[in-house]
Amino acid sequence: SECTEVEICKTTNSGAAESIKIVIVGAGSVGVTTAYALLLDGLASDIVLIDIDKNRALGEVMDLSHAAHFAQARVRVGDYEDCVDAAAVIITAGVNQKPGQTRLDLVKTNYALFQDIVPRIAKFAPETILVVATNPVDVLTHAAHQLSGFPVERVIGSGTAMDTTRFRHELGKHFGVNPRNVHAMIVGEHGDSQLPVWSLATISGMRLKDYCEQAGHEYSQPALEDCAKRTKEAAYEIIQRKGKTNYGVASVLVDVLRPIITHSDAIMTVSRVGTYGGVEDVALSMPCMLNRHGAYQDVPLLLNDREKGALRQSALGVKGVISKL
Ligand code: 2OP
Repeated sequence: SECTEVEICKTTNSGAAESIKIVIVGAGSVGVTTAYALLLDGLASDIVLIDIDKNRALGEVMDLSHAAHFAQARVRVGDYEDCVDAAAVIITAGVNQKPGQTRLDLVKTNYALFQDIVPRIAKFAPETILVVATNPVDVLTHAAHQLSGFPVERVIGSGTAMDTTRFRHELGKHFGVNPRNVHAMIVGEHGDSQLPVWSLATISGMRLKDYCEQAGHEYSQPALEDCAKRTKEAAYEIIQRKGKTNYGVASVLVDVLRPIITHSDAIMTVSRVGTYGGVEDVALSMPCMLNRHGAYQDVPLLLNDREKGALRQSALGVKGVISKL
C-alpha cells in the first residue's frame, strides 16, 4: 500500500537505515559512555559492545537499549565476529590510571591485551578503521598498527584531540569567548610531554596578543601558561577526585567518528604512526584530515624552533617506550 511505501521511504532516508555499525571493545566506563554518547548523537545505527565480562556487557546493553528506544539505534552485546563490516572499531579495553600513576605506567598490561584483541578484530574486519582510546594511547596506536597490519591512516589514536578540547575550554574561559571560537592546539604525546602550539593560536583570526590589544583584554603570559598546565593536569585532577575520566574522552571519540562516518574531511589532532620531529616510526598527535578513509593526511604545521624541539622531545619519549616493548 501507499502507506507502507511512505514508511519504507522514510526509513531509507533516515541515517539509521544506512546501517552504520560501530563496535566498541571494552564495556568499562569509557566504552559505555562512548556507546551512550554515540547513541544520543545518532551517528550509528548498530552499536556492538564486546567485553570479556559478557554479563556486565549485557547489563550495560539492557540499560543502553532503553536509551536506544528514544534514539532508534540498535545496541547489542557481540563478539569479535560482529566486527564484520564495522565502519570503525573503538578499543577502550584495558586498565586505567590509579591516582598518582602516569599513562605510561599502564603500558605492559594494556599492550598484552592488545596482542590478544587487535589480531582478532583484524581477522574479521580487515577493512575497518581502528580507533584507539586505551592508554598510553600513542604507544598503543603504534602497537595496533603493527598488530593489525593496517595502513597508518586506518589506525587512529584519540591522542591530543582530548587535550586540544581541554585547552580550548581553558582559553575560552580565560578570554571569555566560546571555546569553538578559539583556534589552538595541543600536539605530541597524549601525556606529560604534550605541547601547546602557541605560535599558531588565534581568536577570531588574530594572534592572542593582537586579540588582547584589539579586544582590550590583558595579555598575561603566566595566565596563558596556567591554561596549558591545567590542560596537561586535567586528567590527574579528575582521577584524584573520581578515579577515572569518561565523559570528556567519550565525547571526543564521537567527534573522531563523525568525519569517518560523514566523510567530511575534518582536521583534528589525533595520533597516528609517522615521523615526527625527525623521529621515525613513532605515533603521536599532529593535526590530520579525517574522512571515511581514516586519518588520511597530516597537516604539517609551521612550528617555531622551540616548538619543533619540544615535539622532538615528545617523539623521543614515546619512541623510548615503544622500543622497550
Ligand atoms: C584522559 O586524558 C585519562 O587519558 C585520559 O582523560
